[in-house]
Amino acid sequence: MNKAICSSIIDAVGHAPVVDLSRLTADIDGHILAKLEYLNPGGSKKDLIARAIIQSAEDNGLLQPGQTVLEVTSGNTGNGLAMICAVKKYPFIAVMSRGNTPERAAMMRAMGATVVLVEQSDPKEGVTGDDMKRVEDIADELAAKHNAFRADQFKREENSQAHYEHTGPEWLRQTDGNIDAFCDFVGTGGGFAGVARAFKEHNPDIGCYIVEPHGAAKLAGACITCCAHVIQGGGYGKDLPLINHDHVDGHLTVDDGEVTEVTRRLAKTEGIFAGYSSGANIAAAYQLLRGDFKGKTIAVNICDSGLKYLSTDLWGDELSTPA
Ligand SMILES: Cc1ncc(COP(=O)(O)O)c(C=O)c1O
Repeated sequence: MNKAICSSIIDAVGHAPVVDLSRLTADIDGHILAKLEYLNPGGSKKDLIARAIIQSAEDNGLLQPGQTVLEVTSGNTGNGLAMICAVKKYPFIAVMSRGNTPERAAMMRAMGATVVLVEQSDPKEGVTGDDMKRVEDIADELAAKHNAFRADQFKREENSQAHYEHTGPEWLRQTDGNIDAFCDFVGTGGGFAGVARAFKEHNPDIGCYIVEPHGAAKLAGACITCCAHVIQGGGYGKDLPLINHDHVDGHLTVDDGEVTEVTRRLAKTEGIFAGYSSGANIAAAYQLLRGDFKGKTIAVNICDSGLKYLSTDLWGDELSTPA
């Protein structure tokens, strides 16, 4: 068969293009380069780790044919796992806080997954660390009941390894290594850890910055005052074992207002329809360009698709704008 034909959707994961956001940086001295991870078939950067975790579990005998796979997810890793499990015929159970958008749950169900939604302590607020703890407890019970393989993205090295082997080297090839800094909003921290490791090995002078929400900047050492932010997929205010702190040059925080504004502007001026965490990365990149990295080139990932946020306030105002 022609090598250009994928044997399954799994082969279509990765190799997202990089775009110079020159329209967004027209008034600023410097460049923001954006890698469009939302173009992955499951709509996010997490397809890559879903593929890596399942492949490794098969290779190491941790996952047997027909065994149930189970994961705690804000939805994106679940979308990736649902896709891989559909192709490989593993039953998949996603355990998710109701605070994440229903679009992700619908996607997973469409691909045959069972989605268990766990109520939040305050449905009007974002997903907090306590909410995540409750989700974990239910996942533990279900994993035991179904003798399931836990994908365990917060702990498994395959998470950061996938970004180390793929996202990081792709970035270096696509830019000829011409990157001065990288900033990344952290959920599991796997994306930051893998890319930062690849960048530091290539050139230790590339600055690598962790992005967290105001009020939940745990890794920055700040007091956790409020985990109820809009940025789904991270900012849980917990320690992240995958991160190598030797690769962290600094910490940046972003607030809901600027993240929402930048995510909307990204869609309007660059035609890139993404979710909140992508806006968080760009808002943080602006901070770098306004500070020590004036005139330099900043790398950011566009983590997931704006289609996953149609039910949120992100596009609410935009949808009601009169013609
Ligand atoms: C939309 C989105 N952005 C950012 C992240 C954080 O990525 P990582 O887990 O690699 O830190 C996630 C993780 O699930 C996510 O879903």
